[in-house]
Amino acid sequence: MAFFNPRLYAAFTPIPYSFSPQMPKSTRTIPLFLALLFVLLTGQPLVAQTSQTALLQHAAERRVLNLNGRWNYIIDPYENGFYDYRREAFDQSKSGKGGYYDNAKPSSPKEPELIEYDFDRAKALEVPGDWNSQDPTLLYYEGTIWYKKSFALTPKPGKRYFLYFGAINYESHIYLNGKKLGMHQGGFTPIQYDITDQLSKTGDNFVVVKADNTRHLEAVPTINTDWWNYGGITRDVFIAETPATFIQDYQVQLAKNDPNTLAGYVQLSGEGKANQAVTLTIGEAKISQRVTTDAQGRATFRVPARRLTYWSPQQPKLYDVRLSSNGDAVQDRIGFRTIQTRGQDILLNGKSTFLRGVAIHDENPLIPGRTRGEADLRMLLTWAKELGCNYVRLAHYPHNELMLRLADEMGLLVWAEVPVYWTIAWQNPATYQNAEQQLSDLVALGKNRASIVVWSVGNETPLSEPRLQFMTRLVTKARALDDTRLVAAALELHREGNTVIVDDPLGEYLDLTSFNEYAGWYWSTPSEIPQYTFNIKYNKPVVISEFGGSALGGYHATADTRWSEEYQASLYQNQFKMLGTISGLRGLTPWILVDFRATRRQHPVYQNGWNRKGLISSDGQKKKAFFVVKDYYRQKAQQYDRK
Ligand code: GCU
Repeated sequence: MAFFNPRLYAAFTPIPYSFSPQMPKSTRTIPLFLALLFVLLTGQPLVAQTSQTALLQHAAERRVLNLNGRWNYIIDPYENGFYDYRREAFDQSKSGKGGYYDNAKPSSPKEPELIEYDFDRAKALEVPGDWNSQDPTLLYYEGTIWYKKSFALTPKPGKRYFLYFGAINYESHIYLNGKKLGMHQGGFTPIQYDITDQLSKTGDNFVVVKADNTRHLEAVPTINTDWWNYGGITRDVFIAETPATFIQDYQVQLAKNDPNTLAGYVQLSGEGKANQAVTLTIGEAKISQRVTTDAQGRATFRVPARRLTYWSPQQPKLYDVRLSSNGDAVQDRIGFRTIQTRGQDILLNGKSTFLRGVAIHDENPLIPGRTRGEADLRMLLTWAKELGCNYVRLAHYPHNELMLRLADEMGLLVWAEVPVYWTIAWQNPATYQNAEQQLSDLVALGKNRASIVVWSVGNETPLSEPRLQFMTRLVTKARALDDTRLVAAALELHREGNTVIVDDPLGEYLDLTSFNEYAGWYWSTPSEIPQYTFNIKYNKPVVISEFGGSALGGYHATADTRWSEEYQASLYQNQFKMLGTISGLRGLTPWILVDFRATRRQHPVYQNGWNRKGLISSDGQKKKAFFVVKDYYRQKAQQYDRK
């Protein structure tokens, strides 16, 4: 029936279609006659897909229906629910039917139809949650799992409805009531569809997700990483409701390097978006500004802001910010601060600052699995605060939006990153598009968060011309998306004798000189570390994005016995001696806050599938090195916060 989609004719407007499920995220619109030509030439049906809509800013604030909870699932390693036995995709077939997304049911108890699956009689998984930690048979599973959730929702007139997934790892095909909404690639950024016209008039709906965490060379991240490839619907799922014309997007921050001016924009969406009055109100700061949207529904503003208390880790001041237009309003908690560099200094609100950090994966070791909600996230950030941190590196991919909001609230500066990690397919245009899309989504997610001060475009990417082109394009994109924050990456380094040389050409384009160095672990020994010195090409603030070594929690031995807590503690003591010689040192993120699962780590005694570089063990115990770092950070805080 898709071929005779009435909407196709009714609208006579360019329609969003995808010719193949592999098409990149942004679906194209094509003139009607071209669509018909396509059908005539290829015989392929046009499967109406709802294009992904620009992410709703602060979508969770508009949540009307929470879809978290138990979702039935079907394991499908052969993608039997997606392809027929000729490997033709069902949702590309003439009928567009035949796949598990039909959620087919027998018409009578005698089950006359042959249906070889039944979601409602299948097992269930918790959402949000990775599948690996919920079923021992899925611990190492990489492939497709189908999820189904039924829900009751009767659309109200004059409202729009958005189905929102916080994240699904890695490639997802999403269907509502048997109709395909679209395909998404990327395991750590939101997915959102306008489902207003797809909701059933009866109010009974079902959403089906094909989640596939198979790793691919041309993907982002690529096939090889040092973290567990958790699969599934790993973050919140809900339906957001808005008026027909609504505030789709906004940014309210201090203007670049200008502590006295608020600058930003608001974007309306919907038929009535043009020439609309929108009011920005920050009551506590006696700020109220009225602007009018242009023909595209966009309005920008620059407002004097002299009464603000600036956000900082010592005083994480957040304001209630309200945007209201005719018929819609959003409220957000936003902090205001400036961040810039001057020579080798990092200036937060104009004051030189030292980033006392730690790296964090989006994993709760006590599950062990992907974090599942506020309690898990708060636990991780509380540990970081106990360590004496004012900063965290959220490695190596976009973390949950809630983590960013908690960092705002708890007073932790953030390095946020996209998973351009190790050796990516630099010359594959789709890989670049994918990386750039994830960066755009990360910025969309975090642009109103005072805590985020660094956008990182990648980690330990090997030197080559194609890599440099790829990475510098991402840097340009990051600056185009948001020029108020610093841009960085974990650069490559090399050694000549006892000299560590940092002259990675990518460093030229970045605001910080950041690199990972594993003296005492992958090279040299803890006691030899202080023999090393650095030759750093760039006169910029130096932030060590990773350093450290492993210790099995509870294993005690002499300081030169690898894997012992004493070895790890000694490594840190000597690292601080060495790093203290770097004149431009302005920040550190030890690798890593807590042990985390990593398939690459298979020593049967010391690792067992865990990377043991945590300062905290996988059962939540602080290792000796935790207190070495805590002590060093106490001194740094005294040195800088007194200034
Ligand atoms: C790398 C990498 C991390 C990894 C760490 C390690 O530098 O960036 O993702 O876990 O080193 O080897 O432990």
